[in-house]
Amino acid sequence: MLTEEQPDTRADEPWHLNTALLLERLRQLTACATLPALRQAVLALKHDLAQTDHHLHAQDATEAPATCSPAHVLADLEQIVEAQTLERARYYVERLIKSMTEIRTSAINDINLNRWKEYDDILTDSLWLFDRRDNSGVHSAGYWGNFIPQIPHQMLRRYTRKGDWVLDTFAGLGTTLIEGQRLGRNTIGIELQDTVASQARALLAQEPNRHEVVSAVITGDSTQVDYQAILHHYGQASVQLVLMHPPYFDIIKFSANPRDLSNAPSVATFLAMIGQVVDNVAPVLDRGRYLVLVIGDKYAQGEWIPLGFQTMNEVLQRGFTLKSIIVKNFETTTGKRNQKELWRYRALVGGFYIFKHEYIFVFCKQ
Ligand SMILES: C[S@@+](CC[C@H](N)C(=O)[O-])C[C@H]1O[C@@H](n2cnc3c(N)ncnc32)[C@H](O)[C@@H]1O
Repeated sequence: MLTEEQPDTRADEPWHLNTALLLERLRQLTACATLPALRQAVLALKHDLAQTDHHLHAQDATEAPATCSPAHVLADLEQIVEAQTLERARYYVERLIKSMTEIRTSAINDINLNRWKEYDDILTDSLWLFDRRDNSGVHSAGYWGNFIPQIPHQMLRRYTRKGDWVLDTFAGLGTTLIEGQRLGRNTIGIELQDTVASQARALLAQEPNRHEVVSAVITGDSTQVDYQAILHHYGQASVQLVLMHPPYFDIIKFSANPRDLSNAPSVATFLAMIGQVVDNVAPVLDRGRYLVLVIGDKYAQGEWIPLGFQTMNEVLQRGFTLKSIIVKNFETTTGKRNQKELWRYRALVGGFYIFKHEYIFVFCKQ
């Protein structure tokens, strides 16, 4: 299957096919003079592919095999068999050949659009329901307030290419950087608390760095740090993605530092600080590239405070276009889980709904 580095979680084990032989068989299909002959040849090919010891399957480690998802190759062959005209069948064969021989990507990611159907693990719907967090490798749920690794994973694959540079303005325990390191993206994270930054660095040191990318956690205040100077240190002038996962105002107090956004004295100050971060980081983001903001709302004194939409507006006022609002389910915190019945009672009495979601706002820099 054609993911970049994603571990294959599907039952559909990838096939490593002898590219030259496969292409030869596909080209023979286009030479068939009649539709029945072509169908017969496709059925023969399907039969041979089903035999994993057939020489169509690359047995020799030295040749560069075509790595394919069996389900998708078989579905493409089935489409050829079901075509109603010879012309249509040949069109499907040509398309399959193209998907094996040509890579077509957009400017902002490595998704091979000629084989887009194979990226079924990349989400494109705006409602994300996760039943568990990815706890693989050094990822852990240990830091109260960290996001699930699936969020940066999806964003890095949709909005960056291998070798791109990414800035996470609220690095926490480094979830974005861990994903960046796995996916071959250079990632710089800013974290206010030195102890947390050190823990993130320790985790990154334990995570394999197969692509030999930069994963740097810098202790600093993201409203004020000099992003240009930091990037200059790495020989870069700009980044290709900015990810922001700020405190959700004062829901979790991350530290006693007044520069910590969770210590903002009011929602207005919190929003002003978010604005400062965007003002500070936007100049180093390339035009046409993306800024992703992950945040939830807050409930206080009988009132729903729409932090999500308020922070979204702060970004929109600064030269960004809104590309998507993703609603993601929110894991119930341990505290709330223990008091589930009480919260339900409070909701019924108070006329409100219990938070079960947060937002991922996706913006593009104009
Ligand atoms: C919601 S957490 C981010 C968690 C992170 N995404 C992760 O998965 O570990 C917000 C982080 O922002 C940090 N923070 C708060 N104010 C900051 C500031 N002004 N500059 C940089 N970091 C700040 C907090 O210490 C906290 O670690």
